[in-house]
Amino acid sequence: MIMKNPYFVYENNSLRTIDQRKLPLVEDWIQLKTIDDYFTAIKELKVRGAPAIGVTAAFGVLSALSHENSIEKIREKGFSAIQTLSKSRPTAVNLFYALNKMKTILNDLDITDVQKFKDTIKNEAFSVFNYEIDTCNKMADFGNELIKEKMNILTHCNTGMLASPGIGTALGIAYRAFEMKKDIHVYVPETRPLLQGGRLTIYELNKAGIPYTLLTDNMRGYIFDKGLIDIVLVGADRIAINGDTANKIGTYESAVLAKAHNIPFYVAAPVSTIDFSIDTGKDIIVELRDANEVTSINGKKISIALNTINPAFDITPNTLINGIITEKGIVKPCRKEINQLSL
Ligand code: MRU
Repeated sequence: MIMKNPYFVYENNSLRTIDQRKLPLVEDWIQLKTIDDYFTAIKELKVRGAPAIGVTAAFGVLSALSHENSIEKIREKGFSAIQTLSKSRPTAVNLFYALNKMKTILNDLDITDVQKFKDTIKNEAFSVFNYEIDTCNKMADFGNELIKEKMNILTHCNTGMLASPGIGTALGIAYRAFEMKKDIHVYVPETRPLLQGGRLTIYELNKAGIPYTLLTDNMRGYIFDKGLIDIVLVGADRIAINGDTANKIGTYESAVLAKAHNIPFYVAAPVSTIDFSIDTGKDIIVELRDANEVTSINGKKISIALNTINPAFDITPNTLINGIITEKGIVKPCRKEINQLSL
């Protein structure tokens, strides 16, 4: 039985989580209380992964207004928190999905009793949290149908319990297949520059007891060529209406390799990761991060390069994607099917 996700617990007006930058060597549990705590946690990737970022932001808004005792002040603190958090990271659309939910409830709520007002806002933050848990379970059920006995799964980045409050998106499918006693094996690229695969996915797979093999990113061609991969399962940070998908840098390369070797490539993401306002991947803003992440590993300088490039995500075109696994079923990456998913 796969354990319950312990990484996102909201209690006493604060979020208890783990500092993902220090994993797997140090398990540093942190308590997010102020809006600055939440903003910094998301910006600096103490908390990361699209659904986790969204849920953390919803709780950030909740924490920010929790000590106010007038509806006017609650609205003021809530809107200000939303504005601050919306600047933390640009690509994962779940952040904006969650913040829009909080903004709408703050705007539209027509209640004069302060406690009831606060309780309703709290319920909204928890509905974002529960939505992401529920969608993970449903995606795992749909995705599990694609996993046959003895399958070797290539994933990318970290898409498990550290990336969502549930069992995860792409990795959630591996959890479900393993729970169903399927004999699976997960191949994990380390995911430079920040090593979400090598540090976080391996940490999760170790805990769950799922068999895996770690590789550096540039070994992917070799493992495809050796026939070691049967299916690719990745997550997403933003999906355009035509199915073009932004995910962790390096995902596109796995998609190209999968196509070249005739291996199915699936994206697993809740409908909250679909941006119905953008037509193609060309409209997705890709976060560019600091050069230090490329010239260092775990804070240790490894290069004296003066010029670097550090896009956090890349865009996989719909032509390389076999299907998108959502909580509503598996759809083709095309406008007609994606539009029907609209929440
Ligand atoms: O920069 P990160 O670590 O937040 O990027 C995370 C990813 O790209 C994940 O693959 C994506 O968010 C899907 S997570 C469920």
